[in-house]
Amino acid sequence: MLRQKLETEIAKFIVENVPNIDQIRMVSSGTEACMSAVRLARGFTGRDKIVKFEGCYHGHSDSFLIKAGSGAATFGNPNSPGVTAGTAKDTLLARYNDFEQVEDLFRHNQGEIAAVIIEPVAGNMGCVLPENEFLQKLRKICDENGALLIFDEVMTGFRLAFGGAQELYNVKADLVTYGKVIGGGLPVGAFAGRNEIMDHLAPKGGVYQAGTLSGNPLAMRAGLKTLQLIKNDPEFFNRLAKTTETLDFEIGKILNEKGIAHKINRKGSMMSVFFHINRVSNFDEAQEANHSLFNNFFHQLLQNGVYLPPSGYETYFISDAIKDKEIDMTLEAVRKFEYS
Ligand SMILES: Cc1ncc(COP(=O)(O)O)c(C=O)c1O
Repeated sequence: MLRQKLETEIAKFIVENVPNIDQIRMVSSGTEACMSAVRLARGFTGRDKIVKFEGCYHGHSDSFLIKAGSGAATFGNPNSPGVTAGTAKDTLLARYNDFEQVEDLFRHNQGEIAAVIIEPVAGNMGCVLPENEFLQKLRKICDENGALLIFDEVMTGFRLAFGGAQELYNVKADLVTYGKVIGGGLPVGAFAGRNEIMDHLAPKGGVYQAGTLSGNPLAMRAGLKTLQLIKNDPEFFNRLAKTTETLDFEIGKILNEKGIAHKINRKGSMMSVFFHINRVSNFDEAQEANHSLFNNFFHQLLQNGVYLPPSGYETYFISDAIKDKEIDMTLEAVRKFEYS
């Protein structure tokens, strides 16, 4: 009973406060959320293929381990052994921010594409922002072709805004996946959408999904409390963005003084520093950045008490716990960085 009450409470809270979703299904991880959303999109459309973007990571289910970002990119195995050729052939790849490639894929796979899945602000090839109305164009091409648009908001949900990238960019996705923040530190994922689509899920519909620990009371309680704290603090997202902006400007200034060419990408409380490159808008460019210099930067900062994400393919999530003292300490560590 408690489990059902808490699950209903958090679901109600989210549906009331996030744009464009009628129903949400709780699962136990971001991987499960994305895997289930794709199955639902396939079941709903009766089509097999999905489009994903190089450098985006949607968890470790088979369909997504094709040119994946995050740890898969860091450790050099973005195409994982163990994924069958049959599965791989249903995952079509496009370059992030390259709308022409998406158009080509739709042209060559007419009536076969169930969904386009994207990190609306990518965080798994370092932080990479959507450019030139890319998300709006994806919305339009999905509508024109009867495909679903899936926003993987496992990173961006409740981080860029309470309503995530959907709210920030004013683009409506058909299905949205969540993780991380939604569990308040405990293992939770979720996927959500309009009734018309979500009603295809079992037990109401035929697309199967279930999980022993889905909606477990601990995670529901932690998640609900976290979301309530965020929602009830009107300055929360502004404060996070301001801290991130300060870090961006000040780190940039110090690196410039040291003569180290770099590019910092930032949105809200997400940012990444890329070395020896002046633009990063897709996975190819993220790979061209100087990653051994990043590793050196990471280790020197660590020696001075600042623990960055340990890969040039990760995003820094700036926390509300970071105040002036922590900013000063971070900048001091960057000042000490010796580049040879
Ligand atoms: C955008 C995105 N989607 C999906 C996942 C998978 O989530 P989990 O690690 O909870 O399975 C991650 C994990 O980092 C992620 O960043």
